[in-house]
Amino acid sequence: MQFDDAPIGIFDSGFGGLTVAREVIKALPEESVIFYGDRAHCPYGPRDPEEVKGFVLKICQWLVNRNVKMIVIACNTATAAGLEAAQQAFDIPIIGVVEPGARAAARATRNRRVGVIATKGTVESGVYTKAIRNIDAGITVFSTATPRFVEIAELGIRMAKGPIENYTSLASKVYIRPEFQEIAQDYLDPLRRSEIDTLVLGCTHFPLLKALIGGVVGSHVKLISSAKEVSLDCKDLLTRREALAQPGHIPIYQFASSDPDVEEFASFGERVLRMSLGQVEFAPLG
Ligand code: DGL
Repeated sequence: MQFDDAPIGIFDSGFGGLTVAREVIKALPEESVIFYGDRAHCPYGPRDPEEVKGFVLKICQWLVNRNVKMIVIACNTATAAGLEAAQQAFDIPIIGVVEPGARAAARATRNRRVGVIATKGTVESGVYTKAIRNIDAGITVFSTATPRFVEIAELGIRMAKGPIENYTSLASKVYIRPEFQEIAQDYLDPLRRSEIDTLVLGCTHFPLLKALIGGVVGSHVKLISSAKEVSLDCKDLLTRREALAQPGHIPIYQFASSDPDVEEFASFGERVLRMSLGQVEFAPLG
């Protein structure tokens, strides 16, 4: 059995990808991680897919230069726009978040009616519909772009004192804002009427809004986030390739952002990751 102590590279346009990093760290506590947040270009959602693909290739190159052993594109928009190009361009394994989320949704649905909420870029790419129907062509997929959820999650990160989930939780009378509720209702009512029994949170920011979204769609609808599934895929991939870190390896966590305000990244990121980020490096994309 061989081992590899090199880090796993993970990236997103911002903080959402930290929800994936959180699960990877939980599932693989001996693995080192380098996380890159492209805050300077966030949000990716409304951008031209070609532009997003360009960011993906540059960030992958940055991570490869740091000798990562694999890369997780912890952003649905970036997965939709650039996963294929990145896999073709680099020698190390690169995985995205769409296929694992689609797989979990196909497994979860009973009535074969699945909703997907995501950014404009992800919904327009049609990747989720394709990935879910590749698994089971009998599933009907209802997709809706919910771009303001990215904004709400980002705002929550800025304003919450503790974990951001407290800020947007329906259970918390203190933090919930009436306009969030209205926005969520507007976005999600059509999906509710479609009688879905499963809803994919197709943006890595959205698990932070689980309580708000779940409160609107109702407890009979299963919410699927790909984070956990992705962490299991990482474990499986590294095990198969005999590339896990040595047993007992002490992991090193490093964080970098393309935005010069690295203090802000460190303090907000801490609320999502639920651990200190330490010194965040300023690494412009060039
Ligand atoms: N986290 C990104 C995703 O999963 C969305 C945020 C953005 O628009 O940049 O799609």
